[in-house]
Amino acid sequence: MVTMFADRMENTKKSFIREILKVTQQPEIISFAGGLPDPALFPSEELAAAAGKVMSDDAVNVLQYSTTEGYLPLREFIAQRYLEKNGLKISPSEILITNGSQQSLDLIGKVFLNKGDRVVIESPGYLGAIQSFSIFEPQFQEIPLLDDGIDVDLLDKTLDECDAKFFYTVPTFQNPSGITYSKEKREAVANILEKHGVVCVEDNAYGELRFAGEEVPTIRNYLDNTILMGSFSKIIAPGLRLGWICANKDIMEKLLVVKQAADLHSNYLSQRIICQYLMDSDVDSHIAKIKDVYGSRRDHMINMMARYFPENIIYTKPEGGMFVWVTLPESVSSMDLFNLAIKKNVAFVPGSPFYITEGAGDNTLRLNFSNSNQSEIEDGIKRLAACIEKLTF
Ligand SMILES: Cc1ncc(COP(=O)(O)O)c(C=O)c1O
Repeated sequence: MVTMFADRMENTKKSFIREILKVTQQPEIISFAGGLPDPALFPSEELAAAAGKVMSDDAVNVLQYSTTEGYLPLREFIAQRYLEKNGLKISPSEILITNGSQQSLDLIGKVFLNKGDRVVIESPGYLGAIQSFSIFEPQFQEIPLLDDGIDVDLLDKTLDECDAKFFYTVPTFQNPSGITYSKEKREAVANILEKHGVVCVEDNAYGELRFAGEEVPTIRNYLDNTILMGSFSKIIAPGLRLGWICANKDIMEKLLVVKQAADLHSNYLSQRIICQYLMDSDVDSHIAKIKDVYGSRRDHMINMMARYFPENIIYTKPEGGMFVWVTLPESVSSMDLFNLAIKKNVAFVPGSPFYITEGAGDNTLRLNFSNSNQSEIEDGIKRLAACIEKLTF
């Protein structure tokens, strides 16, 4: 019998986080679950002024269809920023504006993946990428994350044994673990990928949100054969849905075809508003404000965990981004903890959806610190600690 839905739908799951978020919207819940920026930090007034300006000065154009590549002055701004911040020479013609990084992942999947192709991914890996690539029915090859980035020997061995289409990585303040690859690991990854002729897909959604430690170069600094992804979601506002992909000319040609087929071009009004905002405001001092707030929330969360969690609970201490990754004793299930915690009005994301292998990461969980204030963090961690004690004794 012919089934109504495409076979690919069998292998693509609903986003677990979106499902959890439905529960966690209730006001009594302290949620460490989502990856939401703090809305109090959105530059709302500046964006309202920018929107007013583009609409009153140029409505006939900003409301019209536009080019697939994206608004040129916005691409020029991004290129200039890469030069100043990262020492990267990227031409605006190598930048495609997308409706957020999530769309970037979809377009990359469309351009590269046939059913059964290998995709190498960090373990744990970004859930949204797993979901997005799953639509194209690849085989994932997981490489475990260590404290300073992936296990590079295993990456090398894996690429010796299989032909991968690309390696997808979030090397800076990774989602979900908060881990940042050391400079040495970045160089090693670049060398291994170069040796095997494998493309790196470097997702840098959090790269601008460093509040501790030293800046490190992007993998793109070491490897030309890198597709570098960026987003305005975490530094300006996710609701505007704007991100971008940097790729060389050959890849860009293909990306433009799939982008055109998907939606002709990214929301042009959003592009013009963000560009106007970037021209009229000091985005660096805005980002400094975000880093200040998130940095002190991270400190507070780590301090509270040190104070209230049992000693055998391990957690990362990220130098930026939005997440802390917690590892419970092997025998403790984070799903059981979730069920207990939700009764105490605290939410988080259990770790297993971030792994491909069934049953992996059952004792892990992700905590978000960017969208809770200091007293919510203290209260939430205290309640979570009480739930952990209940499960471990
Ligand atoms: C690593 C990573 N990539 C991409 C995205 C998607 O972001 P955007 O809002 O740009 O679509 C997220 C969102 O949380 C993310 O964490």
